[in-house]
Amino acid sequence: MQDALGKVDSLLVLGGASDIARATALAFVERGARVVVLAALESDKAAAEENAAALRAAGAATAEVVGFDAWADPDEHQRFVDGVFGHYGDFDVVHLAWGVLGDQDRNSRDARAALAELRTNLTGAVSLLMPIANRLEQQGHGTAVVMSSAAAERPRRSNFVYGASKVGLDYVAQGLQDRLQGTGARVLIVRPGFVKTKMTAGMAAAPLAVDAGDVARIIVEGVATGKEIVWAPPLFRWVMSGLRHMPRAVFRRLPI
Ligand SMILES: NC(=O)c1ccc[n+]([C@@H]2O[C@H](COP(=O)([O-])OP(=O)(O)OC[C@H]3O[C@@H](n4cnc5c(N)ncnc54)[C@H](OP(=O)(O)O)[C@@H]3O)[C@@H](O)[C@H]2O)c1
Repeated sequence: MQDALGKVDSLLVLGGASDIARATALAFVERGARVVVLAALESDKAAAEENAAALRAAGAATAEVVGFDAWADPDEHQRFVDGVFGHYGDFDVVHLAWGVLGDQDRNSRDARAALAELRTNLTGAVSLLMPIANRLEQQGHGTAVVMSSAAAERPRRSNFVYGASKVGLDYVAQGLQDRLQGTGARVLIVRPGFVKTKMTAGMAAAPLAVDAGDVARIIVEGVATGKEIVWAPPLFRWVMSGLRHMPRAVFRRLPI
């Protein structure tokens, strides 16, 4: 439970092997969080256990790993949410941090690959975000941190299925922000540009690339100050605003 100063005490992370999630959980623990539950795919459990060990070494009293899969059906997601809140109690922050960056060329040739990306990033996220938001509303406090992307701002031919997954999730998160007004529960939308993590490993870093630690600091500050949308880096907001308003004929000539 957050104290009177708003310090985060307990954190549930979905996507507990994600690099951004690890950096963010460490940043919360360094600021006094005591309980962290890392939910990860079965195949990610070893990496999540390593993250849990790092969190305990950084001072977390409890850092444990549980299983979850964004591809599970909504009933299973509801049972997961009920189970984890039932077992650990209230959470001050729930970080929805999993995701995939698909291959747009493959998506264009194989609709099943495109649908798989949408299932992981969009429909799976909505299936979990709804029961999580309801739980935070029942608690009367807590923040769901939703990983959107700068890619949600305008479709680009290099990653428009990924962008569609993120704009859909961003819209749902914005709607929840409105629905939760006055309940004490909040949603923080995070829109990073290029972050150097295993998701982008092997890709040439885009301009204004940041590290997972930079995103973590922005998330921690956003939760502490009750922000609704944060960009990483903050300047990206203005870059994307410029791109959003660029005439389409010009935009199409950009190599992006
Ligand atoms: N890195 C960037 O440039 C960037 C920019 C904007 C937004 N984001 C968003 O930020 C979030 C975190 O990204 P990151 O860079 O930290 O990525 P990451 O290190 O690759 O972590 C993503 C995690 O999600 C897991 N995952 C994939 N499918 C899943 C499923 N069906 N159920 C549960 N977990 C699943 C992955 O497991 P496997 O590795 O086993 O597949 C991986 O551990 C994502 O939502 C991403 O879209 C990232």
